[in-house]
Amino acid sequence: MSTELTRNFSIIAHIDHGKTTLSDRLMEVTSTVTMRETSAQQLDSMDLEREKGITIKSHPVAMQYKAKDGKTYKLNLLDTPGHVDFSYEVSRALAACEGAILMVDAAQGVEAQTVANLHLAEQQNLKIIPVLNKIDLPAADVPKCKRQLEDILCIPEDDCIPASAKAGIGIEEILEAIIARVPAPVENPDKILRATVFDSLYNTYRGVVSYVRIFSGTIKRGQRVKLFATSKTYEIKEVGIFTPKMTACDILSAGDVGYVIANMKSASEVKIGDTMTDSTHPCSEPLPGYKEIQPMVFSGIYPVDSSDYEQLKTAMGKLQINDPAFTFSQESSTALGFGFRCGFLGLLHMEIIQERLRREFDMDVISTYPSVIYHVDLTDGTEVIVDNPTLFPEAQVIQEIREPIVNVYIMVPGEYIGDMMQLVLEKRGEVTNTETIDDMRVMLSCVLPLSEILVDFNDKLKSQTKGYGSMDYEHAGYRAAKMVKMDMLIAGDPVEAFSTIVHRDKAEGYGRRLAERLKEVIPSHLFVVAIQAAVGGKIVARESISAMRKNVTAKCYGGDISRKRKLLEKQKEGKKKMKMFGKVNIPQDAFIKVLKSS
Ligand code: GTP
Repeated sequence: MSTELTRNFSIIAHIDHGKTTLSDRLMEVTSTVTMRETSAQQLDSMDLEREKGITIKSHPVAMQYKAKDGKTYKLNLLDTPGHVDFSYEVSRALAACEGAILMVDAAQGVEAQTVANLHLAEQQNLKIIPVLNKIDLPAADVPKCKRQLEDILCIPEDDCIPASAKAGIGIEEILEAIIARVPAPVENPDKILRATVFDSLYNTYRGVVSYVRIFSGTIKRGQRVKLFATSKTYEIKEVGIFTPKMTACDILSAGDVGYVIANMKSASEVKIGDTMTDSTHPCSEPLPGYKEIQPMVFSGIYPVDSSDYEQLKTAMGKLQINDPAFTFSQESSTALGFGFRCGFLGLLHMEIIQERLRREFDMDVISTYPSVIYHVDLTDGTEVIVDNPTLFPEAQVIQEIREPIVNVYIMVPGEYIGDMMQLVLEKRGEVTNTETIDDMRVMLSCVLPLSEILVDFNDKLKSQTKGYGSMDYEHAGYRAAKMVKMDMLIAGDPVEAFSTIVHRDKAEGYGRRLAERLKEVIPSHLFVVAIQAAVGGKIVARESISAMRKNVTAKCYGGDISRKRKLLEKQKEGKKKMKMFGKVNIPQDAFIKVLKSS
């Protein structure tokens, strides 16, 4: 079948520049769905996205568009996530396309993420269609945006399409530009099945649904296919397209974007980025361009109620199929019991997983302080990779420690440049370049340790620039750093849930803050409880909780026995949720409070 009338494209943009609104509008104009259906569908698919105002998962959608040339084209739109944590998903969606709409909010101009996303699209050799959105806003400045695109991104001014996704301006032009500028897919002449799995979803009733882009050949029900990564073969049960809801069809051919359901029994069988081929006539090589992305941030996730362990494990397995970048393995901790060591792309990703565990699986979980991966060279010449502070080698056997670093692009109004330099310095980074974007803004290129941008860098950037600053980053390898393991000792006993890997120069300050917070949440005992932060046996910070007996019945004067009993019962309840550390009782919610705020 000819691919002449097919166009596969994606929309890339900075967060909030209007991708979702434009996707909705394109669907509406092509009569794919009515406006009302659109919002209902999106609401169903992911509440969390709505709430956080971001797109987390890519939603492919097939549209039919009758162009001005009289022909009806099949347009496959792959929406992409908008947050830095998900640049992996962006790259997967882009690899399944021939073109991309680069959306820029005409009232905001080019942002750091616009630059980073464009780089991703260019790496995939995509045809770029620049769209200046929100021209209905009084603050929109189309000529200025055009100049920015030309100056910063080398995009000719004449290529830009002014539009308003909200008001429905320029939509026709965008559709015509997709037809005219985005190349039709080109099929490999051998016509052997090559399909790439760019996403997947676990459906309770239907099992694993793989989202595929067919590069050559065809795929249909009953066919046996092979997946490269595992060499396993499957029988296809159903193929279909997204309209945007899953709609079965007879066959998917070269150039198509759709889904396949095979007899996959386990969520872990499908590997995102893998190539699907025909098992009797396989292609010799998998498709290029996909790489396996490793999680960059790690944290322990534990059930608050230890009897929920198995349920948590099942829930995580299900989340993983939707989200291959999320990894988990069993671990246990004296403080928190049995749980999982989890890997994430970044902090937002971590937050989303926790939130989904709560909402979709009704799980109550605690997570430990996030850490990154360290490469540690030992004195015996071996190298160990550490993603968990409790596994950090003893200081005397360490030769060198290397930590992950990132190239960060920060775009801020010129007046904040000093604040930003200060922030970067505080976070152990350096500014390598500054470039003036326009009369207002400056782009700083910096190198920073990943661990330093994990927790509050973006928040600080936003608050210090009154929301005008934006950032994006890319991984830039590893660099030697003087990291140390810091333990928290409570009444002399280390509590490993609070162990962290910190830079030597920051250990003291961090230890002090943690000790102060622990002091607030650990109740008084009959004796003085010492809280100490220790690095390699040396105490770097110390707090103590003075001795006191908590007499809950003191308030009950008179002989109201039933009231007294009630209070004692309550106290007993409270005790159940305590954990013993040596001779100290720590309420479980103290862990939660401290881990949440640290
Ligand atoms: P992420 O998925 O979080 O990256 O956001 P997005 O890029 O999909 O943005 P979205 O479509 O959610 O739009 C963000 C906000 O901008 C919403 O409040 C939209 O209503 C608004 N918006 C989108 N397009 C236009 C437009 O053309 N004009 C105006 N005035 N507002 C728009």
